[in-house]
Amino acid sequence: MDYMLGLDIGTSGAKAVIIDAAGALLGVGRREYGLATPRLGWAEQDPAIWIDAALSTTREALAQSAIHPQDVAAIGLSGQMHTTVCLDRHAAPLRPAITWADQRTGPQVQEVYRRLGREGLARWTQNPLATGFTLANLLWLQENEPAIYADIAHVLLPKDYLRYYLIGEIGTEATDASGTLLMDVKAETWNAELLDMFTIDASMLPAIQQSTSIAGTLRADVASVLGLRPGIPVAYGSADQPAQAVGNGIIRPGVLSSTIGTGGQLLAPSPTPSYDPELRLHTFCHAVPTLWYNMAATLTAGLAFSWLRRVLHAESYAALADEAAEIEPGADGLFFLPHLAGERTPHMNPEARGVFVGLTLRHDRAHLTRAVMEGVVFNLRQGLELIKSLSAPINQVVASGGSTRHPLWLQLQADIYNQPIYQTQTSEAAAFGAALLGGVSAGMFASLDDACAATVRMSDVVVQPDAANVAHYDALYRHYTELYPALSAHFPNR
Ligand code: XUL
Repeated sequence: MDYMLGLDIGTSGAKAVIIDAAGALLGVGRREYGLATPRLGWAEQDPAIWIDAALSTTREALAQSAIHPQDVAAIGLSGQMHTTVCLDRHAAPLRPAITWADQRTGPQVQEVYRRLGREGLARWTQNPLATGFTLANLLWLQENEPAIYADIAHVLLPKDYLRYYLIGEIGTEATDASGTLLMDVKAETWNAELLDMFTIDASMLPAIQQSTSIAGTLRADVASVLGLRPGIPVAYGSADQPAQAVGNGIIRPGVLSSTIGTGGQLLAPSPTPSYDPELRLHTFCHAVPTLWYNMAATLTAGLAFSWLRRVLHAESYAALADEAAEIEPGADGLFFLPHLAGERTPHMNPEARGVFVGLTLRHDRAHLTRAVMEGVVFNLRQGLELIKSLSAPINQVVASGGSTRHPLWLQLQADIYNQPIYQTQTSEAAAFGAALLGGVSAGMFASLDDACAATVRMSDVVVQPDAANVAHYDALYRHYTELYPALSAHFPNR
């Protein structure tokens, strides 16, 4: 039997999965790693840790699966987006990667907006620019590390660097290229005018390929270290957001992915590169070659919840959420704005901050918890409203992320979005999706449609909105949307 290996190079760790052609998850490997913060606001990673983690997680997944490693027939990759890996002409990293979570590039982001204007940026890239995105990171290097910048021969994304290690060839593909903001997302080419304007040499950027194409074959030396067959096809793979959409079968317009993990993301496939003219949403290329997607990104979702657990010294997440479930919707008049680390959708303001509004003496830790959870979902709903104004009507919402472990998170999404909430049985969705991209590239499936049909199973549990809560939350949501504008003078975007 032929098996697929999927590898995901995430922000806080790597994952490897072994799956079969029916979607059975036979083995999983996980390895955590950290972000280095040599200065306040910086968030860097040494690319070598990704390689180590990819190797050790692959070994772990293979061992757990108990398959014969020689039966792995395809490899696919996924990884954190925007993070900038700079290689010299020998393809050696010139410095640690500047990750998407890095905040140092505020001035460069401002400068791009000043020079292009929001309209220019929209026309050229169809996207807002945020700190930590490749364009901003390269401009920072031009200004602050010119000697290093001068030596850059290749700019890659994390999973592209891993692929280079696996196959010995440099390359990239559309999903990650679209997250650099160096790409014309409509034309699916590097944006020559923008590169000229910011004196970025186009030769640093590999040709843009498709996620499901074969990038090359596994090098014999790497294969022998892992016991795999040399020469297995390795797909270009994709950015983690579209890979996780693939893993959850979200590959056609009308289906919305709602993820509440560390951050919160709504992702809606779109048949056209439609974009929000006010640039509150992202418009990136999907791993399905003919699709794009609109994405709303809430920076602190589960992270706001873990912050709360830490400051309250709570015994567990489940205990907090259980208490919050006992409180009436609306947390007795308490609201929370979840912008603990700045915000992307809808405010696009790295200076936005978290706020509790409406505290009284009768509020206790259950109210605080309920308000934090509701605030995260209210913020996502703002993204949902923007997506609805651009994309095809939403027929189905599929929830994923660590939050799916507690029923309150699912019920809040059902009630605040006023949509039934579906889930798949997929776990490790990004690595799972990456494996499917590998399977398609190797010809195990004729298309991603076929791959998802054969492997992605819906869960039987569907969480229905509660009509009374929906009406109540609708009113609370209107109130929530008034809070940030009323407070925004306190969060000037420098
Ligand atoms: C997406 C983004 C993050 C990373 C996380 O725009 O910045 O979700 O992809 O890995």
